[in-house]
Amino acid sequence: MILVTGASGNVGTALLARLYADGVAAKAAYRDPRTTAQVIKSGGLAVTLDLARPDTLGPALDGIEAVFLLGATSPAQTTHELNMVEAARAVGVRVVKLSVWRADEGLSPIARLHRPVEQSLVTSGLPWTILRPNFYLQNFLRQPSIREAGEFSVPLINAPISFIDIDDVAGVAARVLTDEGHDGSIYDLTGPKALTYAEAAEVFSEILGKPVRYVGLPDDEARAAMLSRNMPEFYVDALIRVARAYCDGGAETVTSTVSDLIGRAPLGFADFVRQNRNSFD
Ligand SMILES: NC(=O)c1ccc[n+]([C@@H]2O[C@H](COP(=O)([O-])OP(=O)(O)OC[C@H]3O[C@@H](n4cnc5c(N)ncnc54)[C@H](OP(=O)(O)O)[C@@H]3O)[C@@H](O)[C@H]2O)c1
Repeated sequence: MILVTGASGNVGTALLARLYADGVAAKAAYRDPRTTAQVIKSGGLAVTLDLARPDTLGPALDGIEAVFLLGATSPAQTTHELNMVEAARAVGVRVVKLSVWRADEGLSPIARLHRPVEQSLVTSGLPWTILRPNFYLQNFLRQPSIREAGEFSVPLINAPISFIDIDDVAGVAARVLTDEGHDGSIYDLTGPKALTYAEAAEVFSEILGKPVRYVGLPDDEARAAMLSRNMPEFYVDALIRVARAYCDGGAETVTSTVSDLIGRAPLGFADFVRQNRNSFD
């Protein structure tokens, strides 16, 4: 039995869908007991767990062979994930950790949230696998201005990025959780090609049949814009510092890991826009 944390989020939802489609026994871990109850009522497997509360983790790991560990971005993320590593160590459960691109180098606050968890897993004595995806393509879905005003604005990044689809991250996670031979591996996950935000805007324009413009915001404007959308200050600062880290390069590498592991090419940018046309048009 596999335990999926972050089950109500983007990656967790995609991972559970994939595991269920493959007939794999998996239990969804929710923080909200009402969600757990609803899922159980409709015949699913679910458990309530709060990564901030170590007392909830041991019981959730009962009968579990492998846990997919996903922490939400917050100042407490490292502590939350370390709580799970500790609980997994107590019972000897395999851990597949969702990390972030170049987490080991600690170039950004987000990488620095993940790095201590990676290090703790490596020295835990547990079987572990670490997945380090690059920027998610789905970040573009948080840009309603593409539909409303034919533009998207993000903290300025000039260099290309090998964006990856969350469904491909989930595909790799499902493979790693269900196959043998991945213990002690760190997988860098990317899409099939790197493109700049300006090139992304060209693809949007072509596919949507309307001009779409990329606006690369200087830090102060980016901060004000994100705060005005009620994004938490910690997250806003983290995103700006990620942009500074990769503004002139460092996120453009393309790996073959997704196709090596799931046997098909990862989703490219144009296909992502076509698949999500309703959100952008
Ligand atoms: N965005 C990117 O481009 C990118 C790229 C690479 C890696 N990442 C990494 O991806 C992760 C985020 O993945 P995502 O987009 O799937 O996240 P998400 O959609 O924001 O979901 C976060 C999940 O964590 C759960 N959660 C929050 N606090 C919790 C707690 N105390 N105990 C248990 N569960 C808790 C949430 O449950 P509730 O419903 O209860 O809140 C939710 O299910 C982060 O670690 C980030 O660093 C992001």
